[in-house]
Amino acid sequence: MAALIDGYGRRFPYLRLSLIEACNFRCSYCLPRGYQPRPGLAPLLTVAEIGRLVRAFARLGMSKLRLTGGEPSLRHDLSEIIAAVAAVPGVAKVALTSNGVLLQRRIAEWQAAGLTHLNVSVDALDRARFAAITGHDRLPQILDGIERALALGLTAVKLNAVLLRGLNDDQLPAFLDYVRTRRVGLRFIELMQTGDNLAYFRRHHYRAETLEQTLLAQGWQLHPRAPDAGPARDYAHPDYAGHIGIIAPYSRDFCAGCNRLRVTAAGDLRLCLFGNAGIPLRQLLQADAQANELQATLISQLGLKAAGHGLHRGETGVTPHLASIGG
Ligand code: GTP
Ligand code: 5AD
Ligand code: SF4
Repeated sequence: MAALIDGYGRRFPYLRLSLIEACNFRCSYCLPRGYQPRPGLAPLLTVAEIGRLVRAFARLGMSKLRLTGGEPSLRHDLSEIIAAVAAVPGVAKVALTSNGVLLQRRIAEWQAAGLTHLNVSVDALDRARFAAITGHDRLPQILDGIERALALGLTAVKLNAVLLRGLNDDQLPAFLDYVRTRRVGLRFIELMQTGDNLAYFRRHHYRAETLEQTLLAQGWQLHPRAPDAGPARDYAHPDYAGHIGIIAPYSRDFCAGCNRLRVTAAGDLRLCLFGNAGIPLRQLLQADAQANELQATLISQLGLKAAGHGLHRGETGVTPHLASIGG
């Protein structure tokens, strides 16, 4: 069977599909002025188009689908989308990345529709710091929503925190306390330079490797990387129920573990988070009969995927902010 393999021998069992660019938060590292729709923005993919896209990827070996945004829960048809993609043969994991504001009200419905994995952005565990970073004083509801997800038996739950010097670098003890008793993953993400955040980046960039040294000194141990794991590095500690993941895009070899492709909310294929313009797929999503052409396009485009991002060289390519392509 044809499969998604690029010129560097990497396989792509993981698709990140953005459902919407809009977001109801205004995190200072991502959308500090809130979400401003870009003029001429193409309409969002419909449930039928998403179904055709996901079936084509699944036939090429994709087994994990992550729904991202913007904030994906702003789509009123999110449960319908989850159910449609969960029903596709070969799709074993249906994941969602959310700011968590609607978790309390909706997680039971999403889980019933077929959601298996949940990542929630929680950049601080102190209420005032959380409000300062995200622009919204919603931490208690979000943490309660996470407890609800765990109580429902969702076993794959992660918290995402972007490392920000001067804004949340005092939060490590609180985060460690949180994962001491909870079977959750805590993922620290190194701030990335995008097309429009240079001054912010210079002020708040905090190296993930500094944090890794602290963790190693406290007895955390690097887990051997699973063969299908992505670029994140995972740490465990015998005294903690949870584990810690580090996304360190500026470290050497990060992209060697790349296992994911992205599709934007309007149906453009992105071969990498950085540095390449989208390849429009929507015209190939209009009828089931286009499936072979769509699959051939995916295979041939993958041949163009670069070895890695150009962040080390100071390149940010055409990526304006990560919300537009789902991080
Ligand atoms: P898993 O599917 O649980 O491995 O999730 P993840 O951590 O990759 O997904 P999530 O949507 O929670 O991503 C958190 C953030 O990590 C994203 O918004 C990006 O900022 C960053 N990230 C995820 N994947 C990549 C990647 O391939 N390259 C880079 N540079 N950053 C990534
Ligand atoms: N650097 C790193 N991560 C970012 N995110 C958005 N912008 C950036 C950036 N500049 C990611 C965070 C957040 C998700 C919604 O987007 O992981 O949790
Ligand atoms: Fe893959 Fe690009 Fe992320 Fe590197 S930066 S891991 S090549 S998506």
